[in-house]
Amino acid sequence: MKPLRLGVLGSGKGSNFVALAERIRHGEVPAEIVLVASDLKDAAILDHARKLNLPIHACRRGAFRTKLEPEIEKELAEALVSAGAELVVLAGYMRVLKEPLLEKFPGRMINIHPSLLPSFPGLKAWEQALQARVTQTGCTVHWVNETVDGGAIIRQAKVPVKTGDTAESLHARIQEAEHRLLPEVIRDLANGKIPWPEDPRGR
Ligand code: GRF
Repeated sequence: MKPLRLGVLGSGKGSNFVALAERIRHGEVPAEIVLVASDLKDAAILDHARKLNLPIHACRRGAFRTKLEPEIEKELAEALVSAGAELVVLAGYMRVLKEPLLEKFPGRMINIHPSLLPSFPGLKAWEQALQARVTQTGCTVHWVNETVDGGAIIRQAKVPVKTGDTAESLHARIQEAEHRLLPEVIRDLANGKIPWPEDPRGR
């Protein structure tokens, strides 16, 4: 099977990216990471990518914190296209996506979110779960559209909230689940077990 070509985008520590790269290296996910990109030049995800000798793209610094300027997002989208990315994986990408990326990768972009969507979209979903006193939360992989954390859900994993949990302990447990869920979804997209919207790979 031809490996699925992935572009990975992140703004932070990159633990999901590292877990994914590890599963690919072990031959458990038929994929190839063709570009690792970040909106922040000093994000740890880029250091991890450098250590793995993967191509990187660091966005130019822009004026806004919550979104990229259209020109900068266009450069990012073009870098992903030039790298030949077939699927864009948002793994802790903290800015709102706009047209340049959404138009280049329609139905070919997924995100991992640390809650059982539609519950707790937005920031610090694990803190929202603690505040809501739910006994179960989890993580979700979903298709990306123009609504933040709002695209069609692909797959979820449940995580218990335990007595005495702090924000840190709950987030750590959710991240363990994320590190399993995201590679599994990519594996099943690559092998066709999960359908793609409008069949963009022509299968
Ligand atoms: C994850 O919890 C993910 O759900 C959220 O951002 C976090 C990224 O973590 N979207 P990491 O950078 O992969 O460690």
